[in-house]
Amino acid sequence: MAKTATAFICQSCGAAHGKWTGKCEGCGAWNTLVEETLGAPGGLPAAAASGRSRTGAVEFAPLSSAEPPPPRFSTGLAELDRVFGGGLARSCAVLVGGDPGIGKSTLLLQSAAAMATAGVRTVYISGEEAVSQIQGRARRLGVAEAPVQLAAETDLRAILKALKSAQPDVVVIDSVQTLWSDGFDAAPGSVAQVRACAQELTRFAKKTGASVILVGHVTKDGQIAGPRVLEHMVDAVFYFEGERGHQFRVLRSVKNRFGPTDEIGVFEMGEHGLSGARDPSALFLGGSEAEASGRAVFAAMEGSRPMLAEVQALVGPEAAGSPRRSVVGWDASRLAMLLAVFETRCGLRLAGRDVYLSVTGGYRIQEPAGDLAAAAALASSLLERATRAGSVYFGEVALSGAIRPVGRIEPRLREAARLGFTRAFAPPGAPERVDGMVVHGISTLKQLIDILQGD
Ligand code: TYD
Ligand code: MG
Repeated sequence: MAKTATAFICQSCGAAHGKWTGKCEGCGAWNTLVEETLGAPGGLPAAAASGRSRTGAVEFAPLSSAEPPPPRFSTGLAELDRVFGGGLARSCAVLVGGDPGIGKSTLLLQSAAAMATAGVRTVYISGEEAVSQIQGRARRLGVAEAPVQLAAETDLRAILKALKSAQPDVVVIDSVQTLWSDGFDAAPGSVAQVRACAQELTRFAKKTGASVILVGHVTKDGQIAGPRVLEHMVDAVFYFEGERGHQFRVLRSVKNRFGPTDEIGVFEMGEHGLSGARDPSALFLGGSEAEASGRAVFAAMEGSRPMLAEVQALVGPEAAGSPRRSVVGWDASRLAMLLAVFETRCGLRLAGRDVYLSVTGGYRIQEPAGDLAAAAALASSLLERATRAGSVYFGEVALSGAIRPVGRIEPRLREAARLGFTRAFAPPGAPERVDGMVVHGISTLKQLIDILQGD
């Protein structure tokens, strides 16, 4: 019998190596290579690969289609429909990732129940929990009467067989990392298995018109195991974010073939599961503590939705040894850049000092427009001067210390005005007054510091 071919597969990015090395050449991760048996060419299990038909001739079609697209399924949660791009599309494969315990199973069980109640044939397959556990959760969520077809199974062949007879419209697989396929001689959770199983389920979606939602766990460094392979394979990828200690959760779209990728859904985790947050734009504002230094409010845009979030900074005294730099809800390399700009363009000494920066409520700032708010919070802490009450900040800080313009200025300002803010610090060129709010155009970081010092 021929020797089975094996390769060393990086568990982080899926790159294949001929021999074991400590560092993956594909993504640079350390100690992520695991020896796995190779299947048919292309890394597919033999069964899947042989299913390819190469007989019939290719038929070309025009770009226009006579038929309107079939209506989407409403998931029962308006915030989820919003992120999906107007409900769950048909015949698609979707990946929902997030930290363990963040609420993925809760979100999907709730929406599965809502869809089933609306007459959509819905199957929920768990590889992580027993049927009785899921039934218990359904009771707590108050959805135990919904006609969801439930199973606890990890064997992909058995799942596909069951799906064939159930003919569902929507399938939830919780989670893709627990599945295994006998066509593949690798451990469940390994990249080869995850890829093979996701591929077969995606194929099932395309063939039968069902929509398949795959739950994926995120590893320590924030990636779904085998992320790049899975992200290419599915039609849409969403990440569920938030801090476990806070009740708010944000579902963010990173890829969506059926809708915009910059919309977010904001949820509140309560005793009876997740519900859409009522006034999402105001959720991530801190309390109205007495004047304190080191706080600034960022007027953000998430797709078409304006959001306000408070940034807090703490600059410690000069310390011996290497200073600590810590960020929550912001990018560590952007903090390093801002500190460098402060030092070189504004003459502020920060080199030997501890710096902490945190966004309240578990929100994550991804827009470069958050720079000015972070800078204001940092400068305010360093100078021990409170930022002016009722102010919001937005603008991108360039390496030169200039404040660069950002998009969608008016909706930011209007939302801030609606929430009672009276003053905004924005890039040059912003309108001077919006809904009664006074807008100060700021062209350099130095100017921001002068304003803080002058107050
Ligand atoms: P879960 O959906 O199991 O997370 P995941 O599937 O992402 O691992 O959510 C688990 C957390 O949610 C758990 O800490 C308890 C909390 N929770 C509530 O606060 N309220 C609820 O109604 C439910 C079902 C869970
Ligand atoms: Mg779960």
